[in-house]
Amino acid sequence: MARVLQPKDREVTAERLLDSSMRNSYDPNVDVDWDAPLVEGKGFLPEERVSLYGTALWDRLTPEQRIELAKHELGSITSVGLWTEIVLMQLLARYAADLDPRSPHMHYALTEIGDETRHAIMFGKGIAKFGIPAYGPPRAVRVPAKLFGAAIGGPAMFASVLVVEETTDRLQRSMLDDDRIQPMIRMINRIHVVEEARHVRYAREELVRGLESLSRPALELHRLVTAVVAHTVMDVMVHPAVYAAVGLDPREARAAARANPHHRESRRWMAEKIVAFLTEVGMIGGPTRRIWRHAHLL
Ligand SMILES: [Fe+2]
Ligand SMILES: [Fe+2]
Repeated sequence: MARVLQPKDREVTAERLLDSSMRNSYDPNVDVDWDAPLVEGKGFLPEERVSLYGTALWDRLTPEQRIELAKHELGSITSVGLWTEIVLMQLLARYAADLDPRSPHMHYALTEIGDETRHAIMFGKGIAKFGIPAYGPPRAVRVPAKLFGAAIGGPAMFASVLVVEETTDRLQRSMLDDDRIQPMIRMINRIHVVEEARHVRYAREELVRGLESLSRPALELHRLVTAVVAHTVMDVMVHPAVYAAVGLDPREARAAARANPHHRESRRWMAEKIVAFLTEVGMIGGPTRRIWRHAHLL
């Protein structure tokens, strides 16, 4: 893949993505029926993706508590995703500022910022609708992320963005045709999946182009940053406070989730496609592979 991408392809790709955006974009304010009531008995996440699924703690929960926990976990994942989208807007705005304003490549970067603003509002409205707290990432992640957002660029930036977009995409895609899930969530996921497919294409190609000109030490640095971001994002997706919502001790439940083979497998499954891609293009490799393994993503 690295050798077939030429600089001129950048504009060809951007033109295609702009055309697709024009034909197939959503306005969540009107395309989601926010007034529709939740459907009795439908869930918020596939059971098997809930972090405690299969543990002794899970066995003690009633069916209602399991649905409640899934709702809070979905809320946590969504609020972390929403926050990463805002970080991404900053990254893309800094990136776009240096591009040629006449180029489709720049126009697509701006279009993507537009998509992410609508997504963040859509997710925010969803969390409000379901009456879930806005868990989000802890301060220990929010604060350094501001510095990260101001400093990072190039392949590590695009790879980090892809890790977030593609892991959540896998989870959302798996729910599109899942009849057990609330219809409103499936609609939100459908909107997101359609628009994210373009973001993934844009970032994947830009990552490959960026990698071509990296020196060996720079590559290792970009690999390290990407691995740390991937580990951190996956770790903060489920806020420990979600467990308190069903009367569990957050510390005990978090430890149980971390040791849960089903949960580890879910993380690996969410990351499977992006890990394969990053490995293929050389963004996962060398000594920092250990970090991916430690994060249960390899
Ligand atoms: Fe998004
Ligand atoms: Fe995106």
